[in-house]
Amino acid sequence: MTMDFDEIIDRQHTNAENTDGFRGYLFRDRPGLELPWRDEDLIRMWVADMEFGVAPVILDAIRARLDRRILGYTGIYDDRYFDAFRAWCRRHYDWELPREQICLSPGVVPALFLLTGLICEPEDAVLINTPAYCQFRRAAEYAERTLHCSPLTRSETGEFVVDYADFEARCADPRCKLVIWCNPHNPTGRVWRESELRRVAEIVERYGLWVISDEIHCDLLRQGQRHIPLGKVMPDYPKLITCMAPSKTFNLAGLGMSNVIIRDEALRKRYGSRDGIFGSVNPLSLAGVEAAYEQGEAWLEELRVYLDGNFRLLADFLAAELPEAEMYPAQATYLAWVRLGDCLPDVEDLSFFFAEKAGVLLEAGDGLFVGNARGYVRLNLAMPRALLQQGLERIRNAIRAHRAQTQNA
Ligand SMILES: Cc1ncc(COP(=O)(O)O)c(C=O)c1O
Repeated sequence: MTMDFDEIIDRQHTNAENTDGFRGYLFRDRPGLELPWRDEDLIRMWVADMEFGVAPVILDAIRARLDRRILGYTGIYDDRYFDAFRAWCRRHYDWELPREQICLSPGVVPALFLLTGLICEPEDAVLINTPAYCQFRRAAEYAERTLHCSPLTRSETGEFVVDYADFEARCADPRCKLVIWCNPHNPTGRVWRESELRRVAEIVERYGLWVISDEIHCDLLRQGQRHIPLGKVMPDYPKLITCMAPSKTFNLAGLGMSNVIIRDEALRKRYGSRDGIFGSVNPLSLAGVEAAYEQGEAWLEELRVYLDGNFRLLADFLAAELPEAEMYPAQATYLAWVRLGDCLPDVEDLSFFFAEKAGVLLEAGDGLFVGNARGYVRLNLAMPRALLQQGLERIRNAIRAHRAQTQNA
């Protein structure tokens, strides 16, 4: 290990959503919420960014760009960035991308919002699998389109899987125009097998639907896992859009730069004619992201080892301390999807419960994950191990105290 992922870095007063934005996101229905904890004492296991410092190679590249001193508009992009990203996809996914299909956006979410409106007419519906990243629902809401949901189900081995009969029935609905597919899946952490992707692809193709494959988590795999871009399974399907980004992989969400790979030329043109609302790419972002794709591999490898250790810590902790908790072993992402329904059957709002009783911020339930999420919490494990240990102990203590209280009542 050359990186110190154990270092605790102070994020207060950096305008971070993570430290200062939780009231608006997690508790918007509780205006003026006061918690019995100081904000700086909360353990934050919610929004999907990491408590780790950015890789030095990326910081160095940003500093070098700063030294050029002029930070005017960008907009004219030479090949360097695109070559770096294409080489990354080739090395990691054996996936060859034509340069002209790669569009940029300040984030995957803005691209989803824009594309949903471009692809779907007002009477069309968008299909997602639940539980889901809640911005998928917001993409439909933003574009004023209808949302349809196909719940994932559990296989005999406990794995989250597509309910193909339900999924196909919803794809066959004539109103359905677009599938937003999450690959790997947030919040369950599933890495879809090739056979699963093939079945989904066959259904999508059978009904001629558009599909956006959100692959933002694809680089954050457990050791031994392999990501397959949907684009490799649907090599010639024109109605596929793939979103990939350095934001999760390298903890660069604030740099606001993502890749949107649009195959269909007409859609690409329409996207290009509307993406003016995004403005031009921040020159510091461009420098940082270029360096990430060119030189970030070693850092990422170390990060993955550390994250695997955090997942082991969580699994061991739950087995020893909270055996009623059911943890699904995430194959990707730094997010653990844990069912606490049997630990706290009488608690409706688990996010609020843990914020108030444990001083731990986490996302939970149907409100934040669209549906099919009752009794589940999502724990962001991308933090120094000592903090994680502390957070888990607080979670355990709050559950035990609540049980003791309800048993005595
Ligand atoms: C599946 C998925 N898509 C998109 C995003 C956010 O994308 P961006 O920050 O690039 O807008 C997240 C963040 O958690 C996510 O989990």
